[in-house]
Amino acid sequence: MTTAPQHLAIIMDGNGRWASAKGKNRTFGHRQGAKVVREITQYCAGQNIKYLTLYAFSTENWLRPKQEVDFLMKLLEHYLQSELEVYQRNNIRFIVIGDVEGLSKKLQKLIHTMQDATAQNTGLTQFLALNYGAKNEIARSVISLYERGVFEQARRLKREQGVDYIIKNIENALDTRAVSSVDLLIRTGGEMRLSNFLLWQCAYAELFFTPTLWPDFNAKELEKILQEFYQRNRRFGGL
Ligand code: IPE
Ligand code: IPE
Ligand code: MG
Repeated sequence: MTTAPQHLAIIMDGNGRWASAKGKNRTFGHRQGAKVVREITQYCAGQNIKYLTLYAFSTENWLRPKQEVDFLMKLLEHYLQSELEVYQRNNIRFIVIGDVEGLSKKLQKLIHTMQDATAQNTGLTQFLALNYGAKNEIARSVISLYERGVFEQARRLKREQGVDYIIKNIENALDTRAVSSVDLLIRTGGEMRLSNFLLWQCAYAELFFTPTLWPDFNAKELEKILQEFYQRNRRFGGL
């Protein structure tokens, strides 16, 4: 199989350790990490990949020291203020997933500006996960089903159809909307866990873990991982 993954998701981990190893402040690693985001996004825009989801800040990352959280929020502001040109030039549509209302008003405004400006772009769609947690996302999706009376409708169906109906509705209410399933999930930084990322969407994802710290990751390594992805036999429960 040599078709590119429709939906590639990346847990960009290892910024802090990369900086510490160089005797620098963790923030140095985050700044370098943002540059890699640009390289990888542009690379994916040039491939046959339709969706690229990047994990930038989790619902659990608020647990970090205030100083680091503040720095990350400032870095995000800067990114949103400076990257528009890159997105337009590469025909990339930008969408934030996560609990956006939990972010500052300033960030929310920048997010909406960038989303609106790139809404008509037809190439790669980049989902940036900010204040994102899969449990939070699924809970928000279930609340929206409740508010729209979907459970009442499901009760009128036969059990099996009711279950399928709820699954479809949850999927469509997730932040990633109808493009829910991830084909390939990569985590840099050597940890082998999901850290509350896209739990529903990764139900049948191919997983790939690399010890490379995110600031050292590049298009060449991604290319190698894609080659390995093409060799994998995805059975989806069949034979
Ligand atoms: C990932 O790098 C970036 C964020 C979570 C914001 P880390 O900051 O987690 O770096 P390590 O894992 O501590 O090295
Ligand atoms: C996952 O990395 C979150 C992001 C990359 C944004 P963490 O560094 O927060 O994950 P844990 O704490 O090691 O599980
Ligand atoms: Mg980490």
